[in-house]
Order: sequence, then structure tokens, then C-alpha cells
Amino acid sequence: MIVYLNGEYMPVEEARISPLDRGFLFGDGIYDVTPSYSGRFIALDRHIDRLEMCLDNVGMENPLSREQWRDVAKELCQRNEGESLGIYFHVSRGDEGRRFHGFPENTPPTVFAMTLETEPHPSVPDRESIQGLRVCSSEDLRWRRCNIKSTALLGNVLHYQQGFGAGMNETILFNSNDELTEASSSNVFIVKNGVVATPGLDHQKLGGISRHITLSSLRAEGSIPVQERVILMDEVRIADEIWITNSNKQIAPVIELDGEPVGEGSVGPVWEKAMTIYEAAKYDY
Ligand code: PDD
Repeated sequence: MIVYLNGEYMPVEEARISPLDRGFLFGDGIYDVTPSYSGRFIALDRHIDRLEMCLDNVGMENPLSREQWRDVAKELCQRNEGESLGIYFHVSRGDEGRRFHGFPENTPPTVFAMTLETEPHPSVPDRESIQGLRVCSSEDLRWRRCNIKSTALLGNVLHYQQGFGAGMNETILFNSNDELTEASSSNVFIVKNGVVATPGLDHQKLGGISRHITLSSLRAEGSIPVQERVILMDEVRIADEIWITNSNKQIAPVIELDGEPVGEGSVGPVWEKAMTIYEAAKYDY
């Protein structure tokens, strides 16, 4: 695999960073993941916008111009094999030669990028053939800045492992008021009586790009009502359908929550329709 590190392309085995890099010592960094299908990126500019916004949120300058980020993404896709390569961008606050909590001065950031395989998806969504996901739930025990796409993912990793270790595909999270926040690596939607709902954005969840494409494309198409609002645990437990969204899974249907079937325990009709709308619109963002 060829990766990008601080302005150069090299085999991953040759890429070296200092053990004093603040990304390594503190998880002091920002990242983003953009999917692509058959050589076409999904919403690359939105992903670069979010990266820039998150860097700004933690007081880091964006080290590359939009054109440079786009070039890195294109170049890595050309230099690596694979039809549908996602791009991972990562900026950490660099290495000032010591472990010290305060922000360093005059220290260049570490800029890293690599390709990731994007999960393949059929271009015609079919609820009979797609495999539904099984998830568990947990109290959301992460920090109060989940809107920042930080590389400090230990909270998310521990939540993901709760599900993964028990043979599940994801862990969905509720705050101490029993309100749905998101899942360990995805946003969450529910469907009840044909109406789609997802929690509104705040510091408790990431503004997912797939979430945005889902909401916008459904609103533009107009036949499925969508809501952004507080969603309580009890509503999730009696939802007809649950979906999770992220850049790797697009919209993934969930058929089991904490060992109980979601709706009838099979992938629902609203998912199929929504996924069809998403599929038709996803390159427009
Ligand atoms: N994760 N919420 C969390 C906590 C996430 O980590 C992600 C994505 C999302 C969805 O965001 P998007 O639709 O922009 O991918 C929501 C990525 C895929 C990851 O960490 O690999």
C-alpha cells in the first residue's frame, strides 16, 4: 500500500512518525474518511469542509489547500489497487520533542493519508437479499465533544467492542436521559409508521456526511417524511425499522437490537425505498 506522509508518497512500511507525535501520545488529531465507488468520490468537498471545521474547533490550522487535499485523494487512488477505495485523512498536532500538554508553537502538524477499502454495495437495493445487522445498546460514555472527528477514539472503540465482542455489528448509544445519540461509528435513524427520524445535531454526535445525504436526498425526493428531533430509547425499541449510516455502510438496516427483533425482524420496505433514493443521489453531494 502506498500512503501519503508530510508531502511524500511511500510504501506504508517506509512511513515513519516520531513516538513523540502528539497524535500518538495524546490522540491530539483530526481525521476524516471519504468513500468512493468505481473511482468516484462521494461528497469529497463536504468531507474536506468537515475536516477543516474540526481542525478549527481544536485550534489547528488546515495544513493543505482544498486542491492539495483533492490531489492527495486522487493520487492515492491512482497509486493503489482497488475499484472502490475510501480515503483516510489525518492531521495531528505534530512533535515538538517533548511530552507537554500545552499546544506547541512553531511545530508543523503531521499530515497522513491512506486508502481504505469501501464496502461494496449492490446498485439496486433489495431487502430480500441484503444482510440486516444485529446491534446492542449501551449508555453513551464518551466525551461531550462528539461533534469533533477526533483521532482520540478510545471511547468509540470501547463501545464498538461491546457489540463486536458479543458477535454484533454495532453498539447504539443513549445518553443518561435515555435519548438516542448515535452509534460507536455511525449515525442512527428509526422509522415508525412510515416516518423517518434521526436525532438533531449537537455536541453528542458527529454530523455524518451519510446522515446528511440521507436526510437531504429523502427531503428532495419528497415521498418519505423525515424528522430531526429527540428520540427516546422506548421509541427505538418499538421502531418498525432502525438504520445506521456511515461512509462505509451508506444506510445499513438493523434487524435485531439487544436480542429482540426490530419490527418484524427482517429488512423493512422503507429502507429499500430510502436506499434507492440515496443511491440515485449520492454522487450529487
Ligand atoms: N466513522 N458517528 C461516528 C461516531 C462515526 O465515527 C462516523 C463515521 C459517523 C458517520 O459519519 P459519516 O457518515 O461522515 O461517515 C457517525 C468513520 C466511517 C470511521 O471512523 O471510520
